[in-house]
Amino acid sequence: MKITYYGQSCFLLETSKSKLLFDPFISPNELAKEVKVDEIDCDFLLITHGHEDHVADAEAIAKRTGATIVSNFEIVNWFASKGLENGHPMNHGGSWSFDFGTVKYVNAVHSSVLPDGTYGGNPGGFILEVDEKTIYHAGDTALHMDMKLIGELDRPDVALLPIGDNFTMGIRDAVKAAEFIQCDKIIGMHYDTFPYIEIDHETAKAAFEKAGKQLTLIDINSSIEL
Ligand code: NI
Ligand code: MN
Repeated sequence: MKITYYGQSCFLLETSKSKLLFDPFISPNELAKEVKVDEIDCDFLLITHGHEDHVADAEAIAKRTGATIVSNFEIVNWFASKGLENGHPMNHGGSWSFDFGTVKYVNAVHSSVLPDGTYGGNPGGFILEVDEKTIYHAGDTALHMDMKLIGELDRPDVALLPIGDNFTMGIRDAVKAAEFIQCDKIIGMHYDTFPYIEIDHETAKAAFEKAGKQLTLIDINSSIEL
């Protein structure tokens, strides 16, 4: 399985069956200027919550590719009102088996209004069972105790965690989150995009290493194998 980072919380996960794009915020992102957003291909768009820095390019990409939008009920309805009726609504605690694997929508502690002020439901994250791996995209979230349940029930092989602080967990809390979810392989997200969330990469990696965890910070527009 290949994962490509497009900045902020946006990743393309290429599974054996489908291409899944998370939280597209590319064209407004100064750090992602080299990404050719019009050339990204995907079958599914997974959107954690309604904020601009997670949905900015979703409408254009969904229109061009015909990708199915997977998100909470309110966000899927918002896209449907824009003519994008190929959506799959979910809510917290629910799972669904797609052709490529299973998706569960889980809690995040954050907020979720859409860019035009529409109520965006409650924010979430996704746990995927795909190609014999469990992958957790936490969305924007604080550290919270429900992450212990993810450790107990799902034990992700790889977790995409926000580490930029101010709007989400910072490094110290993200290390604790990695412990709660019992995951050793963390990929960082939601850092450096704005001055409020700039981090020192080496300090971040060292903090995870001290806890016996590995933090990977993928260069924007680069891929790694999972
Ligand atoms: Ni947010
Ligand atoms: Mn955000």
